[in-house]
Amino acid sequence: MLPLIILTHRFLLFLSNSISSEHGFMIPKTVLVTGGAGYIGSHTVLHLLLAGFKTVVIDNLHNSSQTSILRVKKLAGEFGNNLSFHKADLSDRDVLEQIFVSTKFDAVIHFAGLKAVGESVRRPLLYYNNNLSGAITLLEVMAAHGCKKLVFSSSATVYGWPKEAPCKEEFHLSAVNPYGRTKLIIEEICRDVCSSEQEWKIILLRYFNPVGAHPSGYIGEDPQGVPNNLMPFVQQVAVGKRPALTVFGNDYNTTDGTAVRDYIHVADLADGHVAALLKLDESNTGCEVYNLGSGKGTSVLEMVRAFEQASGKKIPLVIAGRRPGDAEIVYASTEKAERELKWKAKYGIDEMCRDQWNWASKNPYGYGSQEDSTD
Ligand SMILES: NC(=O)c1ccc[n+]([C@@H]2O[C@H](COP(=O)([O-])OP(=O)(O)OC[C@H]3O[C@@H](n4cnc5c(N)ncnc54)[C@H](O)[C@@H]3O)[C@@H](O)[C@H]2O)c1
Ligand SMILES: *[C@@H]1O[C@H](CO)[C@@H](O)[C@H](O)[C@H]1NC(C)=O
Ligand SMILES: *[C@@H]1O[C@H](CO)[C@@H](O)[C@H](O)[C@H]1NC(C)=O
Ligand SMILES: *[C@@H]1O[C@H](CO)[C@@H](O)[C@H](O)[C@H]1NC(C)=O
Ligand SMILES: *[C@@H]1O[C@H](CO)[C@@H](O)[C@H](O)[C@H]1NC(C)=O
Repeated sequence: MLPLIILTHRFLLFLSNSISSEHGFMIPKTVLVTGGAGYIGSHTVLHLLLAGFKTVVIDNLHNSSQTSILRVKKLAGEFGNNLSFHKADLSDRDVLEQIFVSTKFDAVIHFAGLKAVGESVRRPLLYYNNNLSGAITLLEVMAAHGCKKLVFSSSATVYGWPKEAPCKEEFHLSAVNPYGRTKLIIEEICRDVCSSEQEWKIILLRYFNPVGAHPSGYIGEDPQGVPNNLMPFVQQVAVGKRPALTVFGNDYNTTDGTAVRDYIHVADLADGHVAALLKLDESNTGCEVYNLGSGKGTSVLEMVRAFEQASGKKIPLVIAGRRPGDAEIVYASTEKAERELKWKAKYGIDEMCRDQWNWASKNPYGYGSQEDSTD
């Protein structure tokens, strides 16, 4: 009975998505994507192109390579023509103005920002300056050009150390580091902007832990330095860049003692952005927030085992003490996104690990590892 119910549910989701897409006039046709050369941005841009959107990317390439843009263009086939790229910093108001003068945007998706948690603790002003001024300049220029629809990448980090699982959107919010605080502040700015003027429609997406890559192995995450997150670290161990994975804490109150998180395939996350854009068009509420997660909790050891299976590589482990600041169990309630965005994650951890390994083994040095010709 259960598979049938799931099938019917999927089918209904599919139907409702395609009905709203058929009303072409309701769909934003041209989207500006800030930070579109980055990990989540590049996958989202690909899905936008394939869904028929014209897409303009602005990225300063501080933490990414233009190679990702070239590869997205290729993966998009005939739709690749609908992608254009500007190498620029968001704080450069003149460039942003020029882009808005030359193109009329229906909506903006804002990914651009610095996201290294450790660095945000050491260099808080850099983070506040880059992230807050970038977002504010963007909102001002959008307002000046009458573009008042925004999708913003927030993060599960705004739940702080949640007392309960799963995390619901209405939980109490708190910041546990400067990175989280910039997210929280930008969320608040968005709420204020929406209450100041009815025309604004903003969707805040709180991501859980994105992993995986496009199944082609052509685009993926390009970790720089010592990764802060589990899977980029595992990936570096698997390709021989690091000797072992350090597991922080095996005495948590979980099935195997290691911390539990919600991993989500980056392709599902990308689809969540397309769903959010469609929602912006039909909704009449100002500011809405949705969790984007799989809704399932997975322990560190479960994830490592799935990766070993997918890659055939042994991941040596070093067990260390708990890392200060880490929560025990965090995963998403996905009810609101399912109900209102008609979106639900399709992939499980086996597919996440398969695609992560496919990308990592083909690109052991990330985008630096091979030349891309332009043909
Ligand atoms: N990856 C995660 O685990 C995760 C989780 C929750 C939220 N997020 C958020 O999602 C967004 C995208 O994350 P990602 O993993 O794709 O990161 P990423 O570093 O791969 O992408 C961010 C992009 O923004 C660009 N950028 C940074 N500052 C800029 C500026 N001032 N002007 C123009 N471009 C600038 C970078 O060059 C990079 O290409 C970030 O805001 C991140 O905080 C990520
Ligand atoms: C996107 O590309 C396709 C295929 O080249 C083209 O038919 C379509 O008109 C383009 N869409 C936009 C909005 O330019
Ligand atoms: C750059 O991206 C990598 C890979 O996603 C990430 O580990 C790192 O924290 C990012 N650095 C900054 C400064 O955002
Ligand atoms: C900065 O803002 C970007 C874009 O909103 C976000 O993805 C990133 O996580 C933020 N980084 C910090 C340190 O707040
Ligand atoms: C451990 O978790 C179980 C079930 O999740 C709970 O019933 C129990 O009270 C927890 N123990 C401690 C010490 O928190």
